[in-house]
Amino acid sequence: MSPQAAAYFLGGAADEVTLQQNRAVFDRYALVPRVLTGMRHGSTALSLLGRPLAHPILLAPVAYQRMAHPDGETGTAMAAAALEALMVLSCQASEPLEDVARAGATCRWFQLYMQPTREATMTLVCRAEAAGYEALVVTVDAPISGVRNREMRAGFQLPEGIAPVNLQGLPPAPPPEGSNVVFDHFMAQAPGWSDIAWLHSQTRLKLVLKGIMHPEDARRAIDLGADAVIVSNHGGRVLDTAVPTLLQLPAVVRAVAGEVPVLLDGGIRRGTDILKAHALGASAVLIGRPVVEALSVRGAQGVAHVLRLLRDELEIAMALCGCNALEQIGPELLRQL
Ligand SMILES: Cc1cc2nc3c(=O)[nH]c(=O)nc-3n(C[C@H](O)[C@H](O)[C@H](O)COP(=O)(O)O)c2cc1C
Repeated sequence: MSPQAAAYFLGGAADEVTLQQNRAVFDRYALVPRVLTGMRHGSTALSLLGRPLAHPILLAPVAYQRMAHPDGETGTAMAAAALEALMVLSCQASEPLEDVARAGATCRWFQLYMQPTREATMTLVCRAEAAGYEALVVTVDAPISGVRNREMRAGFQLPEGIAPVNLQGLPPAPPPEGSNVVFDHFMAQAPGWSDIAWLHSQTRLKLVLKGIMHPEDARRAIDLGADAVIVSNHGGRVLDTAVPTLLQLPAVVRAVAGEVPVLLDGGIRRGTDILKAHALGASAVLIGRPVVEALSVRGAQGVAHVLRLLRDELEIAMALCGCNALEQIGPELLRQL
């Protein structure tokens, strides 16, 4: 990867406090293994929004993957399918969403940024429906870009030939009615809860809200008909010093009270991290940077390899903790340091 691409893919917002703490907080939990439990017929299988999955490791939406490797999103989708991993395609993918869906049968969730006009949003929703996507993952935590100091210092710009191709040709945004860049330009076009309710009424796809950190927001999402929520701070790329996701997970899980699945991302790097997230109530996890790092090293093969490693590590962690099914992983396996 060029230093500029590395700053984009691996960096976080501002001082990268949240980026680091997302990962570090997993190490504040120690595992209390159980032994001699008999581990035959163990499995990491689960069912998520009506779809059977072999394991709870999803690929998070990550933009512009062709910048990491020419295999791009279609390469990632092929690897995800080979390793039976559900993939979420970024709204800012560098390849057409139809091509990626064709490349990998497990690329079935489309991440949506609500567009400045409803017409533009519906153009994307209709394309996702027609291409066979089963869920819309609406990212709600980034109505405006974070303060990306690492990118600025590296002088990052999208290289020629890399673009958010699915957003090209959409109806344009209305002109801003004021001169304040943050509030009159970005936030004037940002979606609100009423837009989520509207979207829900316009599509037959499942609705997942990504970027929910507050328990009351989780409740509101469910009341508006969300089928799942993802506890996420965008991998520390938007609001620096935002609370690490694992720390916030139990409060969201309590508020959701089992009504819909709660997923988590941010800082998952080991099988034991997946087990800890599950112990605190996450039905499944998503991984972002490990996927693009692997993609940059060896294209689709690299992504397949990283997924294989994580699947193996999760199985080993479960076996060594005495759990032969995800349902057996609970908070009693954890002690806080
Ligand atoms: C380079 C990069 C690009 C991303 N692009 C998107 C995106 O287009 N849409 C989105 O919802 N999240 C995006 N994310 C956030 C990820 O979906 C995910 O929340 C985050 O990467 C999880 O943290 P992790 O990288 O520590 O696994 C991006 C993350 C990275 C690192």
